[in-house]
Amino acid sequence: MPSTNVSCSGTGYIGSFTVLALLEADYKVVIVDNLYNSSEETVNRIELICGKRPDLYQVDITDEAGLDKVFKEHPDIDSVIHFAALKVSDTCTWA
Ligand SMILES: NC(=O)c1ccc[n+]([C@@H]2O[C@H](COP(=O)([O-])OP(=O)(O)OC[C@H]3O[C@@H](n4cnc5c(N)ncnc54)[C@H](O)[C@@H]3O)[C@@H](O)[C@H]2O)c1
Repeated sequence: MPSTNVSCSGTGYIGSFTVLALLEADYKVVIVDNLYNSSEETVNRIELICGKRPDLYQVDITDEAGLDKVFKEHPDIDSVIHFAALKVSDTCTWA
């Protein structure tokens, strides 16, 4: 039985596709993202595509208290995928 996964940066480009794949494989997914370079709208689009809505916490991964709250509210989390990063340039931008 698939377990619960927390995806750091699950609203970002790579993270959102990963979240979609996990939900389609019946994992429960919790997203942690500070939304610095993404939007809550991504969660709506994920739900539109697969019919499942991941929980989203707008939390910076350097915020220990914020992360503690996420894990306290989801004691079933047993794995983490970390994609949070600041990009220098956009993958799809051509010079
Ligand atoms: N996009 C690509 O083609 C590609 C290819 C190979 C590797 N990568 C790597 O994958 C990772 C993610 O890339 P991406 O293209 O999805 O970037 P992205 O900017 O679309 O996603 C990164 C996400 O991290 C979030 N974030 C940044 N700092 C944070 C913090 N301190 N706390 C919480 N959330 C934070 C941003 O809000 C954003 O949603 C990067 O390390 C990148 O180098 C990307």
